[in-house]
Amino acid sequence: MPTSASLAAALDAAREAYGARNPNSLAAFKKATNSLPGGGTRTTLITLPFPLFIESGAGATVTDLDGHKYTDFLSDFTSGIYGKSNEILRQAITTALASGMQFGAHTTHEARLADHLTSRFPSMDLVRFANSGTEANLLAITTALKHTKRTKVVVFSGGYHGSLLAHFHAGEPAGNNVPGALRVPFDFIIAPYNDVEGTKALVGPVANDVGVILVEPMLGAGGCIPADPAFLLGLRDYTKEIGAVLIFDEVQTSRLAPGGRQTLLGITPDMTTVGKFFGGGFAFGAFGGKEEIMSIFDVRRPDHVNHGGTFNNSPLTMVAGSTAIEQILTAERMADLNDRGDRLREKLNSAFGGAGAPFVATGLGSIIQIHCHLAKDDVLPALELLYFGMLERGFWLAQRGTLALNFEITDKDVDEFVEAAVESAAAVVKAST
Ligand SMILES: Cc1ncc(COP(=O)(O)O)c(C=O)c1O
Repeated sequence: MPTSASLAAALDAAREAYGARNPNSLAAFKKATNSLPGGGTRTTLITLPFPLFIESGAGATVTDLDGHKYTDFLSDFTSGIYGKSNEILRQAITTALASGMQFGAHTTHEARLADHLTSRFPSMDLVRFANSGTEANLLAITTALKHTKRTKVVVFSGGYHGSLLAHFHAGEPAGNNVPGALRVPFDFIIAPYNDVEGTKALVGPVANDVGVILVEPMLGAGGCIPADPAFLLGLRDYTKEIGAVLIFDEVQTSRLAPGGRQTLLGITPDMTTVGKFFGGGFAFGAFGGKEEIMSIFDVRRPDHVNHGGTFNNSPLTMVAGSTAIEQILTAERMADLNDRGDRLREKLNSAFGGAGAPFVATGLGSIIQIHCHLAKDDVLPALELLYFGMLERGFWLAQRGTLALNFEITDKDVDEFVEAAVESAAAVVKAST
């Protein structure tokens, strides 16, 4: 409940207008709740009173069931980097489909995609595929624990590594007892982000049991808070000192440069996880690392371990991912995308500042989070009001204020987005003063 009565009233009015404008989405939502708890299968996407249902997309736009068009500034939480209808990918997928699917066998495209990843990421001598970032992180952690023969896993406050490794906060209960999240029952230690000394203080007494330190080079779902390079360097040194495996979760930050943030900073972890857009638009995850760690999967070794997964090498994913890296994710295009993101963040911040709006945008390159700095109880209502204003003006973003660019977004789109954000923020300013 917002503290300000006028903010609550503005939000009620915005919700009502939204309901009136989107009868087809409301009907689809009601129908969906018959078979899906909460009407969907990704909690991240749910918005109340009901979410919009998208019928189609092309270029940078999506169209909902009631015929409204939106320029997509969410890009499926970073994975939709190619836009809605990339012609290079369409052709590659169509050609692959014509050769058949579901072979239950190796194809050359598997090593083709693996070669690309190991060439781009200095920390990956060898790589294995999975079907999501969550799975990649679960596999990477378990591999590292097996390698070190240890039990404890260090993660960070604000970290998000997938649906079973969600939203870590200091002081949480252990295991799967954490409220509001499913949590795989690893033996976690939740350390303070961007604080090497605090991490050492927590880890030091049990350092001999710590097999893994898993960290995002920028907190993604945790608010687009970049890691301080000194923090990552400190973790690099500390993991060497205590004999733990350092894993960078670059599921999001891999879009900042061809070899992820690790290449931008020149810091090489022992293992890296990626996912999202590297499947060329299909479900994907990958974990890779040093040969001494990853060769445990080599079946020619008598002591190897098994790692199955029906869709790990799906030919469509392998072809789409390889094609994307070869033809779309070039160094130039990635730099261009991230420069545009930097410009968007700067323009948003100067526009919000100029308008006296209680918002600030953080992040790196093409990944952005809009934060609200009103009183705690007003933050979510203010972001929701901003969201409804942006929808009305034809822009797609997450209700929590998350943005990510895709290759179809132009500088003109960026300018129009900033203009719409200032107009939408004016409703929040009016309601909260
Ligand atoms: C940093 C990070 N790691 C892991 C994941 C999980 O990836 P997936 O949703 O593909 O399981 C996400 C998803 O947003 C993420 O942002």
